Amino acid sequence: MLDGKNVLLGVTGGIAAYKAANLVSMLKKAGAGVDVVMTDAATRFVAPLTFETLSKNAVVSDLFSREKPWEVEHIALAQKADIAIVAPATANTIAKLACGIADNMLTTTLLACTCPVFIAPAMNTAMYENIATQVNLQILKDRGYIVLPAGDGELACGQTGAGRMLEPVDILAAVEEASKKKADFEGKKVLITAGPTREAIDPVRYLTNRSSGRMGYALADAAVSRGADVMLVSGPVALEKPCGASLYPVQSAAEMYDRVMELKDKADVIVMCAAVADYAPVDCAEHKMKKQDALVIELTKTKDILAELGKNKRAYLAGFAAETQNLEGYAKDKLSRKNLDMIIANDVSGPETGFDSEYNAVSIYTRDGNAVHFAKDTKRNLADRILTEIAKNIG
Ligand code: CTP
Repeated sequence: MLDGKNVLLGVTGGIAAYKAANLVSMLKKAGAGVDVVMTDAATRFVAPLTFETLSKNAVVSDLFSREKPWEVEHIALAQKADIAIVAPATANTIAKLACGIADNMLTTTLLACTCPVFIAPAMNTAMYENIATQVNLQILKDRGYIVLPAGDGELACGQTGAGRMLEPVDILAAVEEASKKKADFEGKKVLITAGPTREAIDPVRYLTNRSSGRMGYALADAAVSRGADVMLVSGPVALEKPCGASLYPVQSAAEMYDRVMELKDKADVIVMCAAVADYAPVDCAEHKMKKQDALVIELTKTKDILAELGKNKRAYLAGFAAETQNLEGYAKDKLSRKNLDMIIANDVSGPETGFDSEYNAVSIYTRDGNAVHFAKDTKRNLADRILTEIAKNIG
């Protein structure tokens, strides 16, 4: 699985640093090339020579070393890496990553990484359970880092509890598992739309649809982690850009239409997850309209992006159907009317799934008559299931 991959291993200053030497051996045996970057504190626990001997590569820890004066080394290392692992990851380095601080060779390199980054926390139980550390780990998870669990057991400080670094064999297994998943969208370009659109009435008012963008962003994140080259066309949302995706922000349905039409020919797969407004005001007032007793706004239908894509279909085309009744009937109608390969239907009438929720439940219908139903799950897990269904159809 890791044969020929380049792994960047970040070692930070914890007693578990000695275990990272074992991880280097395992990664090498699995066929990976390994570059080790150590923090200053880590070099106090284990000599760089140990890692150099095992990795057969120079260990880097000084941001200003001029051994290769022609290379911007942290950028070169970040670009070379297919996978990055921080093991052990101290509370301090975790906090720096969560804040985007780049004050040493490791944090600077990691900030420039676009590959999957695994974090193996290792620290005293109280430090691990401290709300600051837990919030930082959550921030990293939300941004697409793969945070590995900390093991329970006796710690170097003499206490027993959570905070032990996951054993190197388990870190390797987690990395291999993630690499396995990655393969099925390798080399594929996936265009995903997400979020609502805003149709301006005047400079301060707009019409919109209910949509948090979470489902589309989860799809983008999942597609990136499975190796896809992801173009995410997004309406206004309050979400972080999925790590590794190219983001194209838009406001209105017309802007989304233009952007999708510009990008569509590059895509192998298109998933229209956006809640595009069906109507837009005919005119947008130049100045803020003053309050009146009643207001009549003339609306016009927006262009149906998905139906347009269905007319001259080149990519595998999937749409969403958010319904409050007759889910299957309406979804299948959209599937054939818009000439889609797949429709993903979700019932948005329930309080626990749909719109602002982290959860969803979907039914997937394909052009060739297959149907699969996925019960309530996180949008991120459902994103993976949807991509697995798409992968079955694109070969
Ligand atoms: N969609 C689109 N462009 C629009 C409206 C919708 O591309 N102007 C896409 C959505 O992204 C979604 C699918 O079409 O993938 C379903 O949208 P929906 O508005 O429910 O479909 P309609 O055909 O407009 O049906 P309805 O009568 O339910 O509004």
